[in-house]
Amino acid sequence: MTANPAQSPFRTSLLEENDGPGTNRSENPTMGEVISRRFSRRGFLQGSLAVSAIAATVSPMALMLADEARAQSASAFSFKEVEAGIDENHHVAEGYDADVLLRWGDPIFADAPEFDPANQTPEAQVKQFGYNSDYVGFIPLEGASDHGLLVVNHEYTNEHLMFPGIVTVKDGKIEIAPADEKRVAIEMAAHGGSIVEIRRVDGKWQVVRDGTMNRRITATTEMELTGPAAGHDRLKTNADPSGTKVLGTINNCAGGVTPWGTYIMAEENFHGYFGGQLPEGHPEVVNYERLGAPDETYAWFNFHDRFDLSKEPNEPNRFGWIVEVDPLDPNSTPKKRTALGRFKHEGAESIVAQDGRVVFYLGDDERFDYVYKFVTAGTYNPDDRAANMDLLDEGTLYVAKFEEDGTMEWLPLVHGQGPLTAENGFNSQADVVIEVRRAGDLLGATKMDRPEDVQPNGVNGKVYVMLTNNTKRTDDQVDAANPRAENAFGHIIEIAEDGGDFAATKGRWEVLLKCGDPSVAEVGASFSTETTKNGWFGMPDNCAIDSVGRLWVATDGNSPSDTGRTDGLWAVDTEGEARGTSKLFFRVPVGAELCGPLFTPDDETAFVAVQHPGDGGEDWDGFGRPSYYEDLSTRWPDFRDDMPVRPAVVAITKQGGGKIGA
Ligand code: FEO
Ligand code: CA
Ligand code: CA
Repeated sequence: MTANPAQSPFRTSLLEENDGPGTNRSENPTMGEVISRRFSRRGFLQGSLAVSAIAATVSPMALMLADEARAQSASAFSFKEVEAGIDENHHVAEGYDADVLLRWGDPIFADAPEFDPANQTPEAQVKQFGYNSDYVGFIPLEGASDHGLLVVNHEYTNEHLMFPGIVTVKDGKIEIAPADEKRVAIEMAAHGGSIVEIRRVDGKWQVVRDGTMNRRITATTEMELTGPAAGHDRLKTNADPSGTKVLGTINNCAGGVTPWGTYIMAEENFHGYFGGQLPEGHPEVVNYERLGAPDETYAWFNFHDRFDLSKEPNEPNRFGWIVEVDPLDPNSTPKKRTALGRFKHEGAESIVAQDGRVVFYLGDDERFDYVYKFVTAGTYNPDDRAANMDLLDEGTLYVAKFEEDGTMEWLPLVHGQGPLTAENGFNSQADVVIEVRRAGDLLGATKMDRPEDVQPNGVNGKVYVMLTNNTKRTDDQVDAANPRAENAFGHIIEIAEDGGDFAATKGRWEVLLKCGDPSVAEVGASFSTETTKNGWFGMPDNCAIDSVGRLWVATDGNSPSDTGRTDGLWAVDTEGEARGTSKLFFRVPVGAELCGPLFTPDDETAFVAVQHPGDGGEDWDGFGRPSYYEDLSTRWPDFRDDMPVRPAVVAITKQGGGKIGA
């Protein structure tokens, strides 16, 4: 991008796909090293290859026959599968509608200006729907499934798709003009989140533009830091000597809605917004290196001292948290809940445990980083919303250790326990939550293949962990929970907590799916043989569980070159004979990834977020434009207004009404 011209601007998930090896330099043994101490390397490899060959040797003919066999299968899903492929449109299963509900730039207040991409201003953007939606949540109003608040994270901005006239092509090389202060202000206003009242009328969803709870949260919204790190010296800056007030939230990827109806925004790749150098010998050097900061992907630090490490060395400690927002009070101050730790938070999906404590599952999306959960100290009170509002300030944060025998342990990240002492630089719980990754290193947590969404399933009692990929894992780093070297397509782990208790500190786990094309034996994918040529996918990222406990997986990274298909939403059977069977329900336009997804409580609507449609390394004729924002006057924004060439939230409903996928 601007400050890093060596990087092509044409990448999805810019900050996630940076090609480094990950920042975990700890000596924690990967599971493969543990195994190789018990078995000969040669024997292990032969064993694992033999298993994958059995799972993966599926001929094209068998896949075709499977298309027919599926009809009689025990699958929990009955829709007719979409054909996988690539074009400029989105496609949903027959009998369903996929309607664009909200696009980047849509006005969400009565006094908001209409979208005018040629004349963008920060003042307009802050009253309009933000860019690149990721997490989508739905908070019913008065218990209704047809009226509620849509809460949506706006993860990051793609300047080359947003702004006209900033791309030049020289000798086939793409350059993006450096950002000026106004462009940075627009970018900051396009980040954060939106809270938008929506209503379903005659089967179709509408935005309530004058909804009294409608709100934009941005990279400059005033927020409060709470919990064990609040007020700590490491969080103090010139602008905030209290260490408790911070401006804005950034790179909000997945998230969650709590049982008490607050909106969780997870701060993921915050390292890319920082620039400059720490003063020589600064004590935060190791802390920031472990998180890859500064990365200088964005130029914000040129205009805002707080993003410049040479001027505000503590500011990165004020990002990378879980943010909780009360959407029912548009004047409420969002709170960064430091008890849940500081890392590249993917999401925070939650469930009430048997004893009333609330459990949040957390992924740290980096190659070789960890899976976490947080268990509140207090219990959820369903009859008193106010009593739950600070539950996230006290509790225990755990990091996952997956054993090769299929058991696992959640290791507490508690100051004073084990190695988390002053001797190792942890003087208090504040130090533990600020440097959670280093604490996890010392505890011997299992290095994973980029943990994304982690979703508890209240119906079958299991937990699903999306591990999107890790092409940097070498043969000698393979382990039972990350079973493939050069894992290009990712996998999904299913956890069963001991006693079905989500607050348990021990459990069992197994790999539900190894992703990728099952007809290519070398890939080692493990979809059921009933999965058709359309049904397999790579790169699981976001996911959802519907009200009857079925798993839906959204992907990030399928492309013409990787898998010969676009990203989409796949329905994945987890139960009975159909376990491991996957079906394509919805697919996105070329260049996009799919986020969300989210089901209304009645399962009649699935909201999905189409991120960066049209992005990619090559032009796509169907868009009538190159993969950047070039010809404003003739091609934007009216070109193909019916399809989401702007990042959009799409509402999927069954024609004539009814439950999705049933
Ligand atoms: Fe923003 Fe890890 O996906
Ligand atoms: Ca994600
Ligand atoms: Ca992603």
